[in-house]
Amino acid sequence: MYICPKCSENLIKINNTMKCRNNHSYDVSADGYVNLLMNNKKSGVHGDNKKMISARRKFLALDHYSIIVDKLCELIEVFCKQNFINSPVILDTGCGEGYYSNNIFSKLSLHLNNVVIFATDVSKDAVKFAAKSYKNINFSVSSINKLPFSADSFNIVLSLFAPLSESEFNRILKCGGILITVSPSENHLFALKSVIYDTPYKNNSSNFKPKIMEKCYEETITSDMHLNNNQEISDLFAMTPYYYNTSDSDKEKLKTISELDTEIGFVFNVFYKPNNT
Ligand SMILES: C[S@@+](CC[C@H](N)C(=O)[O-])C[C@H]1O[C@@H](n2cnc3c(N)ncnc32)[C@H](O)[C@@H]1O
Ligand SMILES: [Zn+2]
Repeated sequence: MYICPKCSENLIKINNTMKCRNNHSYDVSADGYVNLLMNNKKSGVHGDNKKMISARRKFLALDHYSIIVDKLCELIEVFCKQNFINSPVILDTGCGEGYYSNNIFSKLSLHLNNVVIFATDVSKDAVKFAAKSYKNINFSVSSINKLPFSADSFNIVLSLFAPLSESEFNRILKCGGILITVSPSENHLFALKSVIYDTPYKNNSSNFKPKIMEKCYEETITSDMHLNNNQEISDLFAMTPYYYNTSDSDKEKLKTISELDTEIGFVFNVFYKPNNT
């Protein structure tokens, strides 16, 4: 399943080390994740930082976004039923601090035997945090541009609010396997943006237009969310991409509110890998 990021040979786990036949080796951490990221930046910082990760962990733990888990499990269960798959092998790419990987595992395991979930993110801090809490998931550090998995490994790949790489997803999916992406809908968090910006913009729709994979389903779900304290509102804001593009004076505006009612909305797209690729 795991392949060596240096030579692409299979990795075999021996005690707490993963090794390929060319003797490249990678330690499995005490928390159980493996770092298979090549081209480490000098700063060592990739993807989300600790502040975003901890804000996301606190906000997601409130389960305001549990409708995403429910919809993903519904889509996965329908796919498994239609394809007679009892033990799906799933990869969550750009998994962040692991909330979705873990909750999907728990919910799917109520109905399916032996669900196997791998999850990976370019942020070592996020993966470290995830692996500490969620012991049922196989976590690794890697980039979606060079996924350390052999070809035809997965029934399902998930990409939730994360960057996409069609060629890598297509390579690691089994024929007939599916990629499920989730992105924010047009009006997602519009009321939050209205507090901060004089002219808030709606979200753009996803510009992912795959060349090999074929789209087979799209659905948007929306709901109303009520937050009743400033900490929850700040955590929500700190896990959004707007946080780093907003001036300090605009950020200050959020400190003045203690409640927020906003629409939340998520677009689910499903693409499948045709049999002839
Ligand atoms: C908005 S967060 C979403 C995290 C998680 N899927 C969730 O919904 O809670 C985007 C994630 O993508 C990760 N990411 C960014 N660039 C990446 C890359 N090239 N390869 C893998 N992950 C990446 C970030 O570190 C971050 O954890
Ligand atoms: Zn190797």
